[in-house]
Amino acid sequence: MAENTIIIGAYWGDEGKGKIVDLIAADADWVARFNGGDNAGHTIVAEGKKTILHILPSGAVRGKNVAIGPDVFVNPEALLKDLQSVKDYKGRIVVDERAHVILPYHLTLDDGGKLGTTKRGIGPAAEDRASRTRDITFSDLISEKFREKLHEVLKEKEPVLRNTGISNMADYENEVSRTCSEYASRMKPLIGNAGLELHNAIQRGEKVILEGAQAALLDIVHGTRPYVTSSNTTAGGAFANLGLNPMHFKVVGVAKAYPTRVGEGPFPTELKNELGRRIQEDGHEFGATTGRPRKAGMPDFVALRYSARINSFDEIAVTKLDVLAGKEFTAAVKYEKERETTENFPFMLEGWQPVYGKTYYFESFTEAEAERMCKEGYTSLPAGMRDYLEDMAAAIKTPISMVSLSPKREVTLTKGVLEATAKFAK
Ligand code: IMP
Repeated sequence: MAENTIIIGAYWGDEGKGKIVDLIAADADWVARFNGGDNAGHTIVAEGKKTILHILPSGAVRGKNVAIGPDVFVNPEALLKDLQSVKDYKGRIVVDERAHVILPYHLTLDDGGKLGTTKRGIGPAAEDRASRTRDITFSDLISEKFREKLHEVLKEKEPVLRNTGISNMADYENEVSRTCSEYASRMKPLIGNAGLELHNAIQRGEKVILEGAQAALLDIVHGTRPYVTSSNTTAGGAFANLGLNPMHFKVVGVAKAYPTRVGEGPFPTELKNELGRRIQEDGHEFGATTGRPRKAGMPDFVALRYSARINSFDEIAVTKLDVLAGKEFTAAVKYEKERETTENFPFMLEGWQPVYGKTYYFESFTEAEAERMCKEGYTSLPAGMRDYLEDMAAAIKTPISMVSLSPKREVTLTKGVLEATAKFAK
């Protein structure tokens, strides 16, 4: 049977999942997005051409069939823009009929707020979904009864909308309705049942990749609430929302060599010093679309252990390890609060302080040296780097299968990594 894989960010997002998805999906038949919205954009360089996608999975650029699952909040505007970017695309695109539509008023209502959201309307659309009466799915969008549904929804939302300065509700309804009928006519051929398509593909022996957006610690249930996104970012959530069998998938966690965080919320190992600034700069830790700087932190084995447990990671891919070269660093191995210590990531992080383990160091290396290490395999890595990787595998009881040493697709070490780190992951 083909090796179906789900790829999940292990910290708070921006782990460099794109490159890993690209590598794992090279021979895939389907690539699917199962959560989030256009709050997670990515840039793909393929055959010398740069494409920026906001909501379509990166596989679209490689000609794969792509699916967008029911727990994705889709702004049709963003999707139609993405479709423009992949004009010559021949694969199939399926947008689930249960997925929710982000409408203009969701954008108006998402001002970033105290959570520091990405202002893409995800939170307000998710609130409407939870109401079960004010939400609009893609099934509604293409239904003959759409106009009636919109009228009911806007009637319920009227007080909130008036607060945003909308004075003539009838005009506003006509305007939204016109926009929606344009969306409906362009999107109708794409709307279907994503879970069923993927299930059938798996039954036929085709290879399916599920591409997570955001990351485990931003999950609406398991994340660092309330500073989380509005969808399920974890592997179990993906299977539940798509209605797929977890037994059919390998779960790969993507752990950046150091965590970063954008927006608000707790970040126990945040580095507010020169080292943090150097990591931020060397790792180009600035939001691709917003330019927002990402806070950088010391590696956190406690957070990773939690992430590995709630996702049942089978393997870990470590990204951007080159950024830590030439820098002395350590990793949180437990947390303490007053006289209490724990190795489990606490739900309420307030008052808990990380306790760091040993110090790691490896010298800077050139791109050519990185290429050589990838060719020669795990044993050619500097001792300090191996030490860090082996301690990570031991701390989270999960072997490492890939180590990225440069943004270039081919500069990724796979040779001998799994075998070497599996011994420590027991
Ligand atoms: P929302 O998803 O726009 O509602 O934002 C909620 C929280 O998730 C904020 O802290 C955002 O910064 C964070 N977030 C959303 N998408 C991403 C992402 O792709 N990378 C990192 N953080 C994200």
